Amino acid sequence: MHGIDEQITLRTGNTEDIEAVYKLNRAVFSECWSRTSLYSALESGYDLLLCESNGTLTAYLLSLTILDEVQIMQIAVSSDYRRQRLASRMTESFMNAATDIAAITLEVRLSNNAARACYAHLGFEEVGYRKSYYAPDASGNREDAVLMTKNVK
Ligand SMILES: CC(C)(COP(=O)(O)OP(=O)(O)OC[C@H]1O[C@@H](n2cnc3c(N)ncnc32)[C@H](O)[C@@H]1OP(=O)(O)O)[C@@H](O)C(=O)NCCC(=O)NCCS
Repeated sequence: MHGIDEQITLRTGNTEDIEAVYKLNRAVFSECWSRTSLYSALESGYDLLLCESNGTLTAYLLSLTILDEVQIMQIAVSSDYRRQRLASRMTESFMNAATDIAAITLEVRLSNNAARACYAHLGFEEVGYRKSYYAPDASGNREDAVLMTKNVK
């Protein structure tokens, strides 16, 4: 459990934050991005929102804006900080700042009930599926993605 004096802050991240993001990315996802992919993403215009607790990274949101649509590429919360509204706070802060945005979209694994519940809680709707979207697992099975959208305007 975390102390009452713990200070949670949100800030924009940049390439100097890649090492911390990479470590959290590795801890959270089975298929993680390399440092180079994270670096290239940030250099090519992806946005990074960080959530820190007393200066230590506890969650991040990586997104890409194209015209008036934002795609959430990744959202990750450290396992011992889940169910404390960090993902909600990041997404809400992000939505409040995105004044010229018409819609936010994302893909999530069909089996990822926590993320689907979290996005539904934030007002996202499940609008479609992408069959066999993800890379094959050890058994050669490719999981479907659920496409979720939230209209902002
Ligand atoms: C999915 C994830 C980002 C949610 O982050 P979080 O900070 O724990 O989510 P929040 O605390 O903001 O949850 C908001 C609401 O979402 C729902 N929710 C979140 N996690 C849930 C879970 N494990 N089971 C059921 N509902 C859940 C609940 O309604 C919750 O509200 P409540 O706690 O008041 O009931 C986090 O579990 C995570 O990092 N998972 C691994 C990475 C991942 O799957 N990322 C998404 C795909 S890119």
